[in-house]
Amino acid sequence: MTKDMVPGVKVAVVGVTGAVGTEMVSVLHDRNFPLTDLRLFASARSAGKTLETPFGSKTIEEFTVDSVAECDVALLAVSGDFSKEYAPQLAERGVTVIDNSSAFRYDDDKPLVVPEINADAIGDAKIIANPNCTTAILAVALQPLHAKFGLKRAIVSTYQAASGSGAPGMKELEEETRNILQGGQSSNKVFVHPLPFNVIPHIDKFQDNGYTKEEMKVTWETRKIMRIPDLPLSCTAVRIPTLRAHAEAATLEFDKPVTPEAAREALSGAPGVKIVDDPENNAYPMPLNASGHYDVEVGRIRQSIVFGDHGLDIFVCGDQLLKGAALNAVQIAECVVSGKVR
Ligand SMILES: NC(=O)c1ccc[n+]([C@@H]2O[C@H](COP(=O)([O-])OP(=O)(O)OC[C@H]3O[C@@H](n4cnc5c(N)ncnc54)[C@H](OP(=O)(O)O)[C@@H]3O)[C@@H](O)[C@H]2O)c1
Repeated sequence: MTKDMVPGVKVAVVGVTGAVGTEMVSVLHDRNFPLTDLRLFASARSAGKTLETPFGSKTIEEFTVDSVAECDVALLAVSGDFSKEYAPQLAERGVTVIDNSSAFRYDDDKPLVVPEINADAIGDAKIIANPNCTTAILAVALQPLHAKFGLKRAIVSTYQAASGSGAPGMKELEEETRNILQGGQSSNKVFVHPLPFNVIPHIDKFQDNGYTKEEMKVTWETRKIMRIPDLPLSCTAVRIPTLRAHAEAATLEFDKPVTPEAAREALSGAPGVKIVDDPENNAYPMPLNASGHYDVEVGRIRQSIVFGDHGLDIFVCGDQLLKGAALNAVQIAECVVSGKVR
């Protein structure tokens, strides 16, 4: 740990006007993060504006390396290009950078961390990558099952909220839904097609193998976080017209025999997991219930017809702005500050 990080730390949130940045400030407050100073940064467009936060009214500063270098920890929530340019400069100046973009997730020398699973990967790293939101939610649910039964293969389909495309994505869904309900035509700028009353099986760019980058992120990142380098995991990522919280259906095959009861036992009490699995009473994971909560909901746990006594089907739902982004980043910062990094 560099600089004087104990007992309190100076934290910078960069991208504070965005969907993730806004949540970071709330999570820092909610979790009573040991701050001595909190500074909020965005682009020149927002500089000078006042932001009402749980810490009181605060003025947004324009991002500069010199200003953020006055802090101990920087939580970046801007973009991959931004992080590629500035994270190394900040790290060079002694700042611990926790980055929400995909810029460093696949670098062998940069940890990609979900604290419930691999906080020990942090070590002395000055740049720590926060995973893709869909991956973080999935991995929290998979890890306790993997620990008990040994994950062999996974097939995942996602139902991803508009806020996965940031504040502009939420705004477009709300405005265009209103537009259509008032008899107008929907237009779209953030999403590749109109999202209201639609689902779009296309998130991020198509790759040579026919999968999208979002789908491949789930494969690559789950392997790295769970330390199963050759895990066969296939994903179909779909944008749906919800505002917040991603849902995912996963069909899983294990090395060892598994039953829904044994799976529930493995998941019960696992960190970051809440079992919501009472179909008799119409209780299962749903975005409306998971929104605003830290835990990943897991339910619809059943024996897989395809993989038999070695397989399960599950449905998970988590707030991707929290566990998939802001909460996970703050949890990483907590590990750094408390030294739980090995
Ligand atoms: N949304 C999600 O569910 C999610 C989940 C996991 C990871 N992520 C990742 O987190 C990052 C942020 O996503 P988001 O959804 O929060 O995006 P967003 O809502 O579009 O917010 C982007 C933020 O970046 C700021 N910004 C843009 N250019 C800047 C610059 N040159 N200097 C300083 N600040 C600048 C914006 O400030 P202005 O208002 O001043 O323009 C805004 O605060 C992205 O890398 C994204 O891939 C997002």
